[in-house]
Amino acid sequence: MADAGSNTGSDLLFGRLKPQAPDALLALISLCNADPRPTKIDVGVGVYRDPQGGTPILRAVKRAEQILHDTQETKAYLGAEGDARFVELMRELVFGGTSRDAHIVGVQTPGGCGALRLGAELIKATGADARIFIGQPTWPNHAPLIGCAGLPMVDYKYYDRDSHTILFDEMMQALEGARAGDVVLLHGCCHNPTGADLSLDQWDRVTAFMAERCLIPFVDLAYQGLGNGLEEDAAGTRMAVERCNQALVAHSCDKNFGVYRDRTGSLFVKVTSEEVAKVAYGNLLSLARTMWSMPPDHGAAVARIILDTPELRADWEAEVKEMCARIRSLRTRLAAFDPRLAYINEQNGMFSMLPLSPEQVKALQTEEGIYMAGSGRFNVAGLSDANVDRFAQAVVAKL
Ligand code: LMR
Repeated sequence: MADAGSNTGSDLLFGRLKPQAPDALLALISLCNADPRPTKIDVGVGVYRDPQGGTPILRAVKRAEQILHDTQETKAYLGAEGDARFVELMRELVFGGTSRDAHIVGVQTPGGCGALRLGAELIKATGADARIFIGQPTWPNHAPLIGCAGLPMVDYKYYDRDSHTILFDEMMQALEGARAGDVVLLHGCCHNPTGADLSLDQWDRVTAFMAERCLIPFVDLAYQGLGNGLEEDAAGTRMAVERCNQALVAHSCDKNFGVYRDRTGSLFVKVTSEEVAKVAYGNLLSLARTMWSMPPDHGAAVARIILDTPELRADWEAEVKEMCARIRSLRTRLAAFDPRLAYINEQNGMFSMLPLSPEQVKALQTEEGIYMAGSGRFNVAGLSDANVDRFAQAVVAKL
């Protein structure tokens, strides 16, 4: 029998690991939780809060969970594709109507992160030397997720934080440098971290250019319904997928169904023929099998029940509208507070960026108990009626 202690001191495996910095965004959750000040303000991670500052489970979700509890008869495996009816309903939500394009295949994924990772792995699996063009700044987890699959990334400047504007000409110029078959990561709506979305005219120009140059859109659609409405927020994605003969869309239900921790998402891939669609679908299943085998069921089952039950669907749509309207009214309120915050009203969704240095962000944390990302990104939807003015006052004092 091997002596358990015989190799003490010769650490050939785990001792080789390099320390990793905690994820800066997720670290804000525990930092804020540990702050005893009752006046603290959490505008870090993207979670919607109601006027009282809570993140209650949506009415439609609670009712669907009850139905699921009462009617679910088995928890036997579904397969790597997840809940097929959920995927069908998501396809309609993303692409509109009763979209049945046979060139588009879809699978359920563990949240939008799973969809992004699976999409990156699928691109890698093609063996093509595709690069991914990424506008900066972007969600800090984009590069790690895509980088994990080993895809080369090309950064370009998307937004100027000081003038609060999209650098559209620079974006188009950067895409001039892309080769046919390269992939372009686009935020479908509610750009994270800036809130600065392409206008429909800009979507029109960029997608026409991409179609002409055979560039492939990879759209991250994680906030559908929270910018300007469910249909409006899908307009750019639909334009990109209609125009380009190949495309990927990573969709998340985290925010619009408020099922954050249930990890509910889907990935759609548009290919050039029905034959390729079958092969691509098979590849998605085998890649998913090696990463998570099968996606978690609960959130997808709940979203399916909601969308398949007219009364619940109507209630959910009303709740999404309420969240959207509340974010809009918070934006208006912040913008009215000081002319230097006026731009916030022109932006969409949960996030906007403040032109603050990391030191100023840190000072807001220690002096005021205000927790936001080091980049100056703050979660508009994290403010409550009681703290929005105090937040604006503290921020303006630093500008
Ligand atoms: C965010 O950007 O705050 C959210 O998308 C949560 C996350 O996973 O980072």
